[in-house]
Amino acid sequence: MNIGILGLGTVGSGVIKIFQENNELIKKRTGEEVSIKKVLVRDPSKSRAVKVDNKLLTTDPGEILDDPDIDIVVEVIGGIDPTLDYVLRAIENKKHVVTANKEMMAKEGWRILSLAKSRGVDVYYEASVAGGIPIIRPMKESLTANRIDEIIGIINGTTNYILTKMAHEGREYADVLKEAQQLGYAEADPTSDVEGYDARYKLAILATLAFGARIDVMDIYTEGITKISKIDIKYADELGYAIKLLAIGRQRSDGLELRVHPALINKSHPLAQVNDVFNGIFIKGNAIGEIMLYGRGAGQMPTASAVVADIIDIIRNIKTGTVNRVESQYDESIPVIDMNCIVSKYYIRIRVKDRPGVMASIAKAFGDHGVSLQSIIQKDVKGEEAEIVLLTHDIMEKCVSDALVEVRLLPAVVKVENIIREIR
Ligand SMILES: NC(=O)c1ccc[n+]([C@@H]2O[C@H](COP(=O)([O-])OP(=O)(O)OC[C@H]3O[C@@H](n4cnc5c(N)ncnc54)[C@H](OP(=O)(O)O)[C@@H]3O)[C@@H](O)[C@H]2O)c1
Repeated sequence: MNIGILGLGTVGSGVIKIFQENNELIKKRTGEEVSIKKVLVRDPSKSRAVKVDNKLLTTDPGEILDDPDIDIVVEVIGGIDPTLDYVLRAIENKKHVVTANKEMMAKEGWRILSLAKSRGVDVYYEASVAGGIPIIRPMKESLTANRIDEIIGIINGTTNYILTKMAHEGREYADVLKEAQQLGYAEADPTSDVEGYDARYKLAILATLAFGARIDVMDIYTEGITKISKIDIKYADELGYAIKLLAIGRQRSDGLELRVHPALINKSHPLAQVNDVFNGIFIKGNAIGEIMLYGRGAGQMPTASAVVADIIDIIRNIKTGTVNRVESQYDESIPVIDMNCIVSKYYIRIRVKDRPGVMASIAKAFGDHGVSLQSIIQKDVKGEEAEIVLLTHDIMEKCVSDALVEVRLLPAVVKVENIIREIR
C-alpha cells in the first residue's frame, strides 16, 4: 500500500514519525507493507521537525493525486483552497482519503462523501474533531444503535485554556490570551478559536453524524468568549457554576438546537471539570444513557495517532472488500431551531445607578415580558453606581431579548454588561 501525504507541518510530521517508529506494528496490524511514497510541501528546502528523505518531497500535487500507485491520500494542509480541489481530484482518481481538516469537512463534507461513495472509496476524518479523542468512529459505529438526543462539547482547547486560567488565577481575558499565544496554545490571529468558529466547524461535523441531518455551518448560532470578564467568572462561581465555551447539539421534536456560546454550567456537571487545553464531549443516547469522552483535543502526536488509525482502518477495508462499509444518509429537511425559541436560564449583569427602587423597576420590566427571576443580587457598589446580577428561571430567549430592550431604556440602568445562557 502506498500513501501520499499533502502537507508536512505539525500533523504531517507526526504522521511520518508514527510510520518511522511503529512501522513493524502497522505491518502486523494490517498484514501489509505500507510505504509513504510522496509528501507535498510548498518549500522542500525548509527544515522539518522530522527527518524525511528529500526524494520523497514534491511541490507538484499531481505526483500524488494522479499517481496510480498511490492508494491513500492523507490531507494535512488545512483550509479550503487548494485543499478541496486536491481532495476531490484524489477521489475522482479512486484514491481513499484521510483528512484532519474540520473546515473542509464542515463546509464541504457532504459533497466529498457523496463523491467518495460514487467512486467507491473511503474518506475518513477522525482527527478533524477533538484531535486524538476517538469521536467520529464512536458516533458512526459504537453508538449507532442509539437515537442521540444531545451532544455537548468543550471542543476548543485554546478557549478552554483561557477560561480555565481566568477562573483559577482571577486574570482578565486579554492577559491570558497573550500568555496562550506565547505558549503556542493560541494562534497569532486567534479569531477562529476565540470567536467560536473552530468549535462551530466541529459541531457541524458532530451534529451531522449524531442527528443524521445535513447541516449548513452558517445555521449554527456562534458567539465567542471575548466578552467574558473575570468578574462574570467570579459571580458565576458564587452561583455554583463554571463558564465554558460549549458546542451544543440537541434533538427536539421540532428540529435541532445547534449553538456555540459561552455558558454557565453547574459545577457538578462532568464538563465543568474539563480544564486547561483538554476537550470533553458529553453525549446522551436513548439506549446508552450518558457518556463522556475526554482527552487532548489537539497536538502533534494525538492528532497524528488518529490520522494513522484511519489509514490502518482503510487498509483493512480495502483488504476485506468492505470499503464504504458505513452507510450514511443525511436528511436535508430537519430544521435548525431559531435562537429566539430556545429555552434557558439567563445570567444577566447590569450596571445601574445606586438609588432606591432600581431593583423593583428592573424586575417589573422583566416581569412584563414573562421573565421571572430566580435570584437578584446586588454586587459591587462603586461611587454612584452598583452592579447587579440576575439569574432568570427557564424562559424563551425572545422574552429575555424583548425585556432587555425595555431594561436598557430605564433611567436607572447605565449598561447591560453581559448576558450568558445557562446549560443543563
Ligand atoms: N495541529 C493540530 O494540533 C491539529 C489538530 C487537529 C486537526 N488539525 C488539522 O490538521 C491540518 C493540518 O494542521 P497543521 O497544524 O499540521 O498545519 P501546519 O503546521 O500549518 O502545516 C500545514 C502544511 O501544509 C503545507 N501547505 C500549506 N499550503 C500548501 C499548499 N498550497 N500546497 C502544498 N502544501 C501546503 C505546509 O507546507 P510548508 O511546510 O512547505 O509551508 C505545511 O507543511 C489542519 O486541517 C488542521 O485543522 C491540526
